[in-house]
Amino acid sequence: MNITFIGLGIMGSRMAANLLKNKIKITVYNRSKSPAEELKTKGAAVASDLKSAVQNADVVFTMLSAPDVVEKIATGEKGFLKSMKKNTLWVDCSTVNPSFSLEMARKAAKREIRFLDAPVAGTKPTAEAGELTFFVGGNQNDLEEVKNLLQHMGTKILYMGEHGRGTAFKMLVNSMLAQSMAAFSETLIFGEKIGFDKDLLLNILPALPVTAPFIKAKAEKIRNKDYDTQFPLELMHKDLKLATLTAKEHECDLPLAEQTKKIYKKASQSGLSREDFAAVYKYLQDKL
Ligand SMILES: NC(=O)c1ccc[n+]([C@@H]2O[C@H](COP(=O)([O-])OP(=O)(O)OC[C@H]3O[C@@H](n4cnc5c(N)ncnc54)[C@H](OP(=O)(O)O)[C@@H]3O)[C@@H](O)[C@H]2O)c1
Repeated sequence: MNITFIGLGIMGSRMAANLLKNKIKITVYNRSKSPAEELKTKGAAVASDLKSAVQNADVVFTMLSAPDVVEKIATGEKGFLKSMKKNTLWVDCSTVNPSFSLEMARKAAKREIRFLDAPVAGTKPTAEAGELTFFVGGNQNDLEEVKNLLQHMGTKILYMGEHGRGTAFKMLVNSMLAQSMAAFSETLIFGEKIGFDKDLLLNILPALPVTAPFIKAKAEKIRNKDYDTQFPLELMHKDLKLATLTAKEHECDLPLAEQTKKIYKKASQSGLSREDFAAVYKYLQDKL
């Protein structure tokens, strides 16, 4: 199989590196050149444009920031879909909204290209370790075709149903993730305001059963004032926009997610957009 990987940011570069580590030959493409050159040293073939990246591919993976970017790269004027061979498979691992995934599946089908939405849970270290969780939507036979490839990048491959069900599930995951981080940050600041030592709070709160497990790692980032990016705050804001949009499409209101979205929006606008989303603590610290 000829495999192509498009989108070599924090996640994509590590996912592609794991394919290479497992002796899978891949062609890579990225808008900015340096991540692709880095993977060249690990054995990847580097394509200089989208057409040459996909024209011989049997499977194309994308890991791009947001729906507008996926749209431009896949179906835009210079998009890769028109250069893919018929009956090949496009696996979109980007976090996008389910109605967008359905639109991409339809556009791919028009060109006789098969499609899977396969967003992931996990972050920079999990991607590096090949321990991501994939939520997959689409045809189960198509999933079987690429399962061994996904298993080089992740340890859990969860089939969620038809097209759009993978990204639908991902909406739930990140809505909860964003709110838990904001709730922990607010609680920590509350604790400090009422006179508890910050280190004591950071030692005790993350270990309690009321706290989400991922908070342990984020608490250490807060303690060390280390907001080095694992998951950019601006992308968390994007995910809350997509989750609330999805809810609206189903005539459902999400009051907590809506409120949290406003907080991440303001945090992003305050200069924290490319810091880790744990920096929402820094933003709230100045506000509360
Ligand atoms: N980081 C995480 O912890 C995490 C976890 C789960 C899911 N995700 C999701 O995975 C996806 C990728 O996340 P990431 O953290 O890897 O993001 P990232 O580091 O910001 O990378 C984004 C990728 O999209 C490309 N891109 C952005 N705008 C573009 C444009 N206008 N034209 C062409 N390419 C463009 C970037 O190219 P350049 O390199 O040229 O900028 C890069 O390859 C997102 O949908 C995110 O929500 C992230």
